[in-house]
Amino acid sequence: MTSNQHVLDWVKEMEELMTPDKTIWIDGSEGQLRALREQAFATGELTELNQEELPGCVLHHTAKNDVARVEDRTFICTSNKADDCMMVNWMDPNEMKAKLLPLYKNVMAGRTMYVIPYCMGPIGSPFSKVGVEVTDSIYVVLNMDIMTRVGVKALRQLGDSNDFVRGQHARADIDPENRYIVQFPEDNAIWSINSGYGGNVLLGKKCFALRIASYQGYKEGWMAEHMLILGIEDPQGNVDYITAAFPSACGKTNLAMLIPPEVYAKQGYKVWTVGDDIAWMHIGDDGRLYAINPENGFFGVAPGTNEKSNPNALHTTMKGTIFTNVAHNLENNTVWWEGLDKNPPEDVQEWTGLAVDGKEYIANGGKLAHPNSRFTAPAANCPCLSKEFNNPNGVPVTAMVFGGRRAKTAPLVYQSFSWAHGVYVGSAMASETTAAAAGAVGVVRRDPMAMRPFFGYNVGDYFAHWLEMGKKLGDKAPKIFNVNWFRTDDEGHFIWPGFGDNMRVLMWILKRCKGEAEAVETAIGYEPKPEDIDITGLDGVTVDTIKGLLDVDKELWLEDVKGVEELYAQIGDHVPAELHAEAAALRERLSK
Ligand code: GTP
Ligand code: MN
Ligand code: MN
Repeated sequence: MTSNQHVLDWVKEMEELMTPDKTIWIDGSEGQLRALREQAFATGELTELNQEELPGCVLHHTAKNDVARVEDRTFICTSNKADDCMMVNWMDPNEMKAKLLPLYKNVMAGRTMYVIPYCMGPIGSPFSKVGVEVTDSIYVVLNMDIMTRVGVKALRQLGDSNDFVRGQHARADIDPENRYIVQFPEDNAIWSINSGYGGNVLLGKKCFALRIASYQGYKEGWMAEHMLILGIEDPQGNVDYITAAFPSACGKTNLAMLIPPEVYAKQGYKVWTVGDDIAWMHIGDDGRLYAINPENGFFGVAPGTNEKSNPNALHTTMKGTIFTNVAHNLENNTVWWEGLDKNPPEDVQEWTGLAVDGKEYIANGGKLAHPNSRFTAPAANCPCLSKEFNNPNGVPVTAMVFGGRRAKTAPLVYQSFSWAHGVYVGSAMASETTAAAAGAVGVVRRDPMAMRPFFGYNVGDYFAHWLEMGKKLGDKAPKIFNVNWFRTDDEGHFIWPGFGDNMRVLMWILKRCKGEAEAVETAIGYEPKPEDIDITGLDGVTVDTIKGLLDVDKELWLEDVKGVEELYAQIGDHVPAELHAEAAALRERLSK
């Protein structure tokens, strides 16, 4: 399939290490993939679903102990001891390799090794990057085929180059004690063992497109971020693009596919999805920042996804989709998860495969789908996929948005005073664990730029890189905002309706970028005048509601600055002085 000697040599090395019975190169053809699917049906690794209702869709269960990313088993291994800082789990590369090599030795004996060449980003884009993953899992092959561009086209993109990320994955015996997800950014290498769960084994995604790529971006002058990319088209057909970083489970996939509320839809506004999880951003020839989505599909959380919350996502999963750890509806051989519709099926297998009476099971407090159950769906299925999705140059970014779950502290929206202040705002990102008890305020988890699990190097250096990018972009830099959809009232109910109505906030953001909206200068940044958030057609939301949502409690904010300064202290002396100065300036404004 290739004459690239670097790839051939490395695959040979992998064969010698893991000694599979045979090796199959994935060419990306439908025929080969179909044969693999058939084989997985025969062994029970996959279940074929009702082909009339869900054509091309399959169901997979992981091991019970293997259902999510494992941050404490995830390591960055570089020669730079300084990378060992708060939020980066670091180990010396040689030490790690010595530890892991025995685990890989002969691990594929009696099994087949699949070689998956894949491209992150549109084929033909100068910003795309190639990886090759070896794995012994058909599930991984089929997922990679959806999430990336696999096969011959990826090898063609690579040509004779040695610049590809080497990913070695073996399911091994799914032993959580020996589970490792390890990145070697200096070697362009990823080692993953003893897991079969998506985020740990689809090595193009978090491992490459965020951890390795953030390091590459630092070295090469671009950015890899945990950000969705969406476009808002106005009635004249002009499209503005926004990227947004929220921590996991804080609404990126939902915002990326939002359905405009009627007030905008009837004027002709449209929303287009470019990406729902990761953005790679480069400075273009015109000096603006351009974003591509390195992925080719959506690996989204299933529970809560329904016709009302995210119809575009639901529609996207109706064909060619892999469902992982959702419930199997035996009444019609389809799938079910919490929140899909009100009534669970009676005849159903919950996510571990146990046959139960769905209604009774839920009445007794059980969950039929795992809370982190996922769908892997082709981007091409998405009804609102942007026509720029495959544009090799990406889309120009007008605004960048940070956000998280804050019950009280953060207002609905505010704009940073400057790029450097915006970097502070991103570094101060945090989310509160959702407390079930009414009114209870959760524990604050600091999650700078939503990258906490995904930094590929020292976090202070990462902040410095952000500041540096801002200097290069100058007055062409996107404006930086912060949003919070999750303010609660005294009973713990969300005040802001959220979901599609978030567009009302995005519209103010775009107006600000174009100089079409005024703002109120506050201690924390520029806020909208309450009447500038359009609430036409919103039940139970008044200008006073918005006023409340924009309220800034100085005591809470002083507390928050303290939290950020503590974080900076933990990260250590690589945190740029400019950010310490931003924190001090904010404290001073709040104390006035
Ligand atoms: P990863 O894919 O893990 O990176 O996470 P994500 O950011 O894509 O999260 P996702 O969109 O799957 O988050 C879903 C959760 O956020 C669900 O519990 C949604 O109900 C909730 N959610 C999303 N948008 C909103 C909103 O505007 N308001 C409220 N109240 N909840 C929201
Ligand atoms: Mn998502
Ligand atoms: Mn994510």
